[in-house]
Amino acid sequence: MKVGVLTGGGDCPGLNAVIRSVVRKGIQEYAFDFVGLRDGWLGALEGNVVPLDISRVRGILPRGGTILGSSRTNPFKHEDGLRRIEDTLAAHNVDALVVIGGEDTLSVATELSHQGINLVGVPKTIDNDVFGTDYTFGFDTAVGVATEAIDRLHTTAESHMRTLVVEVMGRHSGWIALHAGIAGGGNVILIPERPFDIDQVCAWVQSRFKINYAPIVVVAEGAVPKEGQMILKDQTLDEFGHVRLSGIGEWLAREIEGRTGKDARTTVLGHIQRGGTPSAFDRWLATRFGLHAVDAVRDGDFGVMVALRGTQIIRLPLAEATAQTKRVNPSLYDEFEVFFG
Ligand code: F6P
Repeated sequence: MKVGVLTGGGDCPGLNAVIRSVVRKGIQEYAFDFVGLRDGWLGALEGNVVPLDISRVRGILPRGGTILGSSRTNPFKHEDGLRRIEDTLAAHNVDALVVIGGEDTLSVATELSHQGINLVGVPKTIDNDVFGTDYTFGFDTAVGVATEAIDRLHTTAESHMRTLVVEVMGRHSGWIALHAGIAGGGNVILIPERPFDIDQVCAWVQSRFKINYAPIVVVAEGAVPKEGQMILKDQTLDEFGHVRLSGIGEWLAREIEGRTGKDARTTVLGHIQRGGTPSAFDRWLATRFGLHAVDAVRDGDFGVMVALRGTQIIRLPLAEATAQTKRVNPSLYDEFEVFFG
């Protein structure tokens, strides 16, 4: 059996740990051969295939990023995408794929599986928004980075008695904002799932100043104000209605400063949350996902995704996992709203 491995979408700490465990178990236990497809679906389209053996995966467990490269290429947006992928797999005698990716990459995998390609999906993303799994690897590392940043910002906020707004990643879901906001003791947490009221946010901020406390506002990049609370004229919205030009964090700081009369600053954490060495939890989860994915290949159980449920790794149909996004449950958010202000 020859297995191809690819990583698609935004990079994320733990990708190399999956590649390593897939290749090691596949070779040592099942005598599989492996190749890597470079840069996600792009490599599958272009026939960019590289050898993958035990020596190639040595020492990569703690390394961030992906040794295979990644891209956001969607083969169905390319002419003859399916045929080109089939040609690549045939040319290299690849019997099955292990596809490591987030929503977009796994949606393509779902479609390819319907078209008859043998593959197993592994969910990754710092956003933790893949449906069907309790956690994706990468999330824990991102939350750790964001929490440390919030801890540091508290002292600066207090020293200058100003509001500090921290913008974290999360276009469609507020998992990072919620977890890091709670862990870091943020005073306000704003997530895409719950359009916020800017008047209420400013009231919360004011209430902190009244007790001589400098507020920290944690906002997910995809959070939006309630309808009617329009963004300043010099900003533009993207296709989802999210503030794009200078970001929601910057907009919030300007609004808060204007309304409270006190300094406000924004820190956008950006790709720092995706880079660097994975946390122990992410290495553990990524390694287990890899071991179970290669077992699914051995079983000929294709069209499935491995997922974490409690402490168990399960398999579920890819079509089920990619049918929806895993959003923050409203009751989880409400639980902590009591701390705001
Ligand atoms: O999906 C992961 C993610 O990091 C999102 O949180 C973020 O919105 C997006 O990727 C950024 O993508 P890119 O690196 O392509 O700009």
